[in-house]
Amino acid sequence: MSIHISAEKGQIADKILLPGDPLRAKFIAENFLEDSVCFNEIRNMFGYTGTYKGHKVSVMGTGMGMPSIHIYARELIVDYGVKKLIRVGTAGAIDPDVHVRDLVLAQAAATNSNMIRNDFPEFDFPQIADFELLDKAYHIAKKYGMTTHVGNVLSTDVFYSNKPERAMELGKLGVKAIEMEAAALYYLATQHKVQALGIMTISDNLNDSSEDTSAEERQTTFTDMMKVGLETLIAND
Ligand code: HPA
Repeated sequence: MSIHISAEKGQIADKILLPGDPLRAKFIAENFLEDSVCFNEIRNMFGYTGTYKGHKVSVMGTGMGMPSIHIYARELIVDYGVKKLIRVGTAGAIDPDVHVRDLVLAQAAATNSNMIRNDFPEFDFPQIADFELLDKAYHIAKKYGMTTHVGNVLSTDVFYSNKPERAMELGKLGVKAIEMEAAALYYLATQHKVQALGIMTISDNLNDSSEDTSAEERQTTFTDMMKVGLETLIAND
């Protein structure tokens, strides 16, 4: 086992879906995977391995924010040999052309985190998605008829920002959405030469708070996103 994950070696697949909420991981395992077995309960950060259309796939919660996803994704990559990681989460729209329930594929992630800056203070080191996963996810999402945006997101350290207008400025430059994990995941993937992608459904619109959704609508979009994530994970097998 690693410090935060209690699985034995071999219990975790080399491809994994990463929702922030561990109960979402449970939902995915129960509704999409066959023969799923729970491999982690430490801190209630549930993780499961099962099969999807005959392929061995895992799913595990990461918690919220870059420090949290960094811990779990690093242990999955370094201690358990995971090679393909797809984050499936929610994000707030900041580009005026992006709306609640749309899908955003994070081609790249800007960030106000110091995680990367601490290592490379002299560069603005861009955090980018794995192109192969991005390409597959885009075509799969389109096939499902989903409204899909591809572009920059902003990975922020602060959900309750005192300066939300700064994020909105980035929205005017075409940054699609604000979330809290993609940059850390992409940086880890770059360092360890594995593949990563962030897929987000828009849960709120910072430009228009009247764009609200019912719990049922959110569940439907969430379910569609799961399918895109799972189909992308197994696309090249
Ligand atoms: N900000 C940051 N992360 C988010 C948001 C937001 O508005 N919505 C969903 N995740």
